[in-house]
Amino acid sequence: MENILASSLFLLITPIFLFFIFKQRFQSSKNQLPPGPPGWPIIGNILQIGSNPLVTISMFAQEYGPLISLHLGTQLLVVASSPKTASEILKNHDRILSGRARPDAFEHSFSPFYLVWSTDCGDHWKTLRTLCRTEMFSPKALEAQSRLRDEKLAQMMCFLHGKKQEVVNIGDVVFTTMFNMISNVLFGKDLVGYEEKHGTSDGLKGKLFRALKDGTKANISDFFPLFKRLDLQGIRRENLHNLREIFSFWEDIVAERRAQIQDMAVAVAEEEKTFLDRLLENGFSKDQINACALELFIAGVDTTSSTIEWAIAELLKNKEAMSKLQEELKYKTAESQLSNCSYLNACIKETLRLHPAVPFLIPRRAFEACEVMNYTIPQNAQIFINVWAIGRNPEVWDDPLSFKPERFIGSNLDFKGQDFELIPFGAGRRMCPGLPSGIKSLQLIIASLINEFRWVLPDDEDPSKLDMKEKFGVTLQKEKPLQLVFEDLE
Ligand code: HEM
Repeated sequence: MENILASSLFLLITPIFLFFIFKQRFQSSKNQLPPGPPGWPIIGNILQIGSNPLVTISMFAQEYGPLISLHLGTQLLVVASSPKTASEILKNHDRILSGRARPDAFEHSFSPFYLVWSTDCGDHWKTLRTLCRTEMFSPKALEAQSRLRDEKLAQMMCFLHGKKQEVVNIGDVVFTTMFNMISNVLFGKDLVGYEEKHGTSDGLKGKLFRALKDGTKANISDFFPLFKRLDLQGIRRENLHNLREIFSFWEDIVAERRAQIQDMAVAVAEEEKTFLDRLLENGFSKDQINACALELFIAGVDTTSSTIEWAIAELLKNKEAMSKLQEELKYKTAESQLSNCSYLNACIKETLRLHPAVPFLIPRRAFEACEVMNYTIPQNAQIFINVWAIGRNPEVWDDPLSFKPERFIGSNLDFKGQDFELIPFGAGRRMCPGLPSGIKSLQLIIASLINEFRWVLPDDEDPSKLDMKEKFGVTLQKEKPLQLVFEDLE
């Protein structure tokens, strides 16, 4: 019986696969796709990509050029790996190429309310982006949040002072600080504690990590959308379960606040209002608020904390850069002073050049077919920009693998989306709206850690030999999390 079933399934599926292969091949010859490595029948290049896509895809780019195409099952992926190809996509063809390719793990009933994973830049995306820009990230909003940032920073310092001489996972500590900075802007409350570790599955931090991982799991439904409905590996189901548990951490806060506003039980001064108040004033539903909060945590916490972890690791390895930074930062802790610290800002740029938090940006999608540098990008193709490879390209950067903040001193090169050599926040209409807030947090946390402590590696490990291997995910993590011992400055 089982044999008969298997053979019928085989007979049913084979023609469908063959249809897609012929369709791919036919389109390839007709439309002049960007070049790329030949793939296997049916699965295309899936197996060639392996566990470190950054390295393999960068190697393909060296062989086939700065604009390549790869077939992942029936999906076409176009990867740009040079400033010129990135600018063609993010500037010259930004309007047509600014959809998002949303992973199937995030296809749920509330998906139309996403911002980061909004596939179509529709009305909800526009409203939410405008609200974020004006109410969260405008100079006025950031100024209003400065007391809150100081408070969260003071809590972090207090925690670290209590842990002196102990081994601390610094990424975990900064993750907590960033989580609570964002949760206070959103809900006016802390949502996580320092003692809860990333790894524990029942805590909010652990669940957020799982959600981040689910977005990058190899999923048959993403490679063969024909099978989406079946969710063969159960990834979408599991992610939904996890997301619902995440939402439960703030749903009571939202319901209580909605009731207070409806009953006019509290009158809140304009400057005291949280982002939740703004969403409620704009008539956002429970699902809309859940989707928005989830994405702000996903987009804002791990990006900032992993960048800080990389910056500390690079400074530990590069004593000269560390001494210069210590010299510049002496007695400077106020936000207004830090934005003028040229060496600090050069260290941040240099960290983001070598270790961009989102190494391929967030996958884009072509709304329509378009011509880029004489190649066709077909409608619905996924588009990656390999920011990691651009940051390490010897044709773009002198001595690209060395950490040399000096390269940015006296240079106008910036990460604001105009210079395509350095685009860790992306560019164009999908560029990161959280940049001003992210940069402030990076400046504040790095400066405070430098001004208050001496950092030592456990077991007298030699910092110059620090392991800098990367682990690929949505965000670029250190494979071995950075463990530090904090000591008083002499
Ligand atoms: C070091 C810190 C950060 C880095 C490196 C970073 C990087 C990025 C990148 C590369 C993108 C995709 C851009 C594109 O597709 O062109 C992005 C999008 C986004 N980021 Fe950030 N980000 C950071 C901090 C933050 C923070 C703190 C927030 C908010 C709390 C945030 C919110 C967002 C949102 C909402 C989007 C989606 C925009 C859209 O699709 O329209 N980011 N970020």
